[in-house]
Amino acid sequence: MCGIIGYTGPLEASKILLEGLSGLEYRGYDSAGIALCMEDSQIRVVKKAGKVKNLEEYCRQQISGTAHSGIGHTRWATHGGVTDTNAHPHRAGKVVLIHNGIIENYHALTEKFHLEDKLLSQTDSEVAAQVLNCLYEGDPLAAIHKLIDLLDGSYSFCIMFEDQPGAVYAIRNVSPLVAASTPSGSLIASDLTALIPYSRQYFVVPEQHIVKLTPYKIHVYHLDDTYTKAYPEIMTVNWNMDAAMKNGFPHFMLKEIHEQPDALRNTILPRVNKGIPDFGEDGIPDSIFKECSQIQIIACGTAMYAGMVARAIMQPLLRIPVTVSIASEFRYEEPLIDEKSLVIIISQSGETIDTLAALRLAHRCGSTVLAVVNVKGSTIARESNYVLYTHAGPEIAVASTKAYSVQLAALYMICCRMALVRGKYTREQACSFLADLLDVIPAMETMIAQKEMIRDVASHIISSPDAFFIGRGLDYAFSLEGALKLKEISYIHSEAYAAGELKHGTIALISDQVPVIAIATQEHVYSKTISNIREVKARGAFVILLVKENAVVDDNLADIRIRIPDVDDHFTVFPIAAALQLIAYYASLGKHLDVDQPRNLAKSVTVE
Ligand code: M6R
Repeated sequence: MCGIIGYTGPLEASKILLEGLSGLEYRGYDSAGIALCMEDSQIRVVKKAGKVKNLEEYCRQQISGTAHSGIGHTRWATHGGVTDTNAHPHRAGKVVLIHNGIIENYHALTEKFHLEDKLLSQTDSEVAAQVLNCLYEGDPLAAIHKLIDLLDGSYSFCIMFEDQPGAVYAIRNVSPLVAASTPSGSLIASDLTALIPYSRQYFVVPEQHIVKLTPYKIHVYHLDDTYTKAYPEIMTVNWNMDAAMKNGFPHFMLKEIHEQPDALRNTILPRVNKGIPDFGEDGIPDSIFKECSQIQIIACGTAMYAGMVARAIMQPLLRIPVTVSIASEFRYEEPLIDEKSLVIIISQSGETIDTLAALRLAHRCGSTVLAVVNVKGSTIARESNYVLYTHAGPEIAVASTKAYSVQLAALYMICCRMALVRGKYTREQACSFLADLLDVIPAMETMIAQKEMIRDVASHIISSPDAFFIGRGLDYAFSLEGALKLKEISYIHSEAYAAGELKHGTIALISDQVPVIAIATQEHVYSKTISNIREVKARGAFVILLVKENAVVDDNLADIRIRIPDVDDHFTVFPIAAALQLIAYYASLGKHLDVDQPRNLAKSVTVE
């Protein structure tokens, strides 16, 4: 969840670290700090609660002199509140470190090393720094090795030792780290956005290997007795820095909403062969689709809601059980999956720890794992049997938008291919399904072009403490994501309900002027949904109705109607998603909130 960067090289380190932290801030943004190895080899630590901007200002006051190596951190608090002291880096004797993850046995280590009186902060990370200092006798590799043997939990660390000027060490278990050796020096970071300004070539730091950055070379050592060298595969970034900038948009979220048509093209078109989905280039064999007896979809948050939509499409078409599980629940269940199960893991970041743990459980059950992932080379991608990469480019806003649409597109394509290879579709039917999928691209463009109308719609709900989303079937699956989007960035309490379920309790919460966002795009349940809308309208709700362009709607059914472009019922999620994202965006904007970095959240959830 935290952002990490380390640098050593010929350039001014503070500038590189602070710029890198601005790019990484979406990972965690409650405090930030840097440590610099100054010209006299002393390590200077500057840290502050609040955003990177605060730290930049503070650094201007606090730092004089130059430094050519250092480490930087943006924090998402786990242990201990948001204070200057709890911010990273943490210093203990000669050791200064930053940490992403959780040290589960920090309490036992505190007792074992008698640290109670030494700790200044309430963080598990400072315990790691103190233990490392106790173990350090002048040999960084040996000390880090001993530390790792003692730790339980997930972590990535960047470490400096005061008597090793110019060197930055790093190690990781689960939590991500990527590194690049460039003409401007050596860099390491929790994700690529911090490396791209300097290099398009990078490597993923292998788990349980020690990395040593020197100004012009990066060494990677196995964690064995002789520290033999490892040579991780060098990878190339498939997007440029522009993709990680706002490019004239006021917020990343709005930019990413606008990027959806292109993201869909990039994800769908390379996999179209003679009008049908083809995953040959992705190395995904038809046998995994043909031979499975059930599909288990696992993910968290928005990715899980994409899975819910996929289930509603797949199960009736494929006529096999399709189950969707929340990763953090699945991993503690005794799942009914086996070697005949196809497990589909969905993750934008490819690093979500609960999703990763569920993936590992699926492997233990003998299931085949197909991952739908956006970040190339991420842990989930590497640990899955097969990967279908979505090509959304970097998603910076915490609220997922374009990642959701491309996850859906990938899942729809999987569904179509499966229907074909399992004999549920003829080639003509598969072609027609794919043509319908391609039609959603202009439909999304049309929807996004109506953003000013949607801004006006959002103005009607910004003063409400609560909002409800209702729909049936697929419309219910869309509602879940719509409610998540609204609550996470506008802080309006929003709940999604299957429209027919409302009267079994929740309708008690509907009263005069409570906004109800009703989605009615599914022909086969349309009249039933309309009846449910009448029920809330009769209780005074302020109804915002999303319907297809040509739907016949009574004038008095809704206070506001949003007409979505006409696409086949199975595909309405795409324009609906754009509309719901824009409602959430403008509600947040109207409340003058931090759209891209909402409170308490972080982009990549690497703690359990
Ligand atoms: O990176 P992942 O797709 O695994 O992330 C899963 C969720 O944390 C994520 O979808 C989250 O719910 C969204 N950012 C919310 O908009």
